[in-house]
Amino acid sequence: MARDILKTLKTEHDAVRDLFEEIKSTTDRAKKSRAELLEKIEASLLPHAKWEEQVFYPEFKKRADRDGLQTHAEAVEEHRAVEQTVMPDVHAADVETPEFAGRVKVFAEMIDHHAKEEEKTMFKMARELFTAEERAQLDEDYEGWKQSGAGAAAVSAAKAKTGVKGVAKSLAG
Ligand SMILES: [Fe+2]
Ligand SMILES: [Fe+2]
Repeated sequence: MARDILKTLKTEHDAVRDLFEEIKSTTDRAKKSRAELLEKIEASLLPHAKWEEQVFYPEFKKRADRDGLQTHAEAVEEHRAVEQTVMPDVHAADVETPEFAGRVKVFAEMIDHHAKEEEKTMFKMARELFTAEERAQLDEDYEGWKQSGAGAAAVSAAKAKTGVKGVAKSLAG
């Protein structure tokens, strides 16, 4: 079967959904597994999100019509909300608390909503806007990017941002 970036991105959404199901089923006492699962979630989410932002979304935007531009803006805004608010707030909570569990639940809901919108709207449009050859090429490029210095740099910059103490903790102060 030919490679297809849209299939790869969808598979990654499903993998992250599974990890969220796992972390949501942990108890407040499961300090170690919560921390490990959060790390796994971020390890799969951050490269995905950064590559979408740096490569896929701009390529999509170039080809989009009015509705596509709105879909693009919506996706970018959701990434921003997760990176600037939701993830820092998750990090600001101690893993063995109900606050952590509540914030992780919001994190999971936002990601599931966002992934659904991509799958049902943006990827559907992209299937028309990109040829099969372009989708295969993007898939190869993505694989290479993940292993490249540029990919690693993008992920560590995102980690630095999302790992800082969030708004919620400073308010609770
Ligand atoms: Fe996205
Ligand atoms: Fe995505």
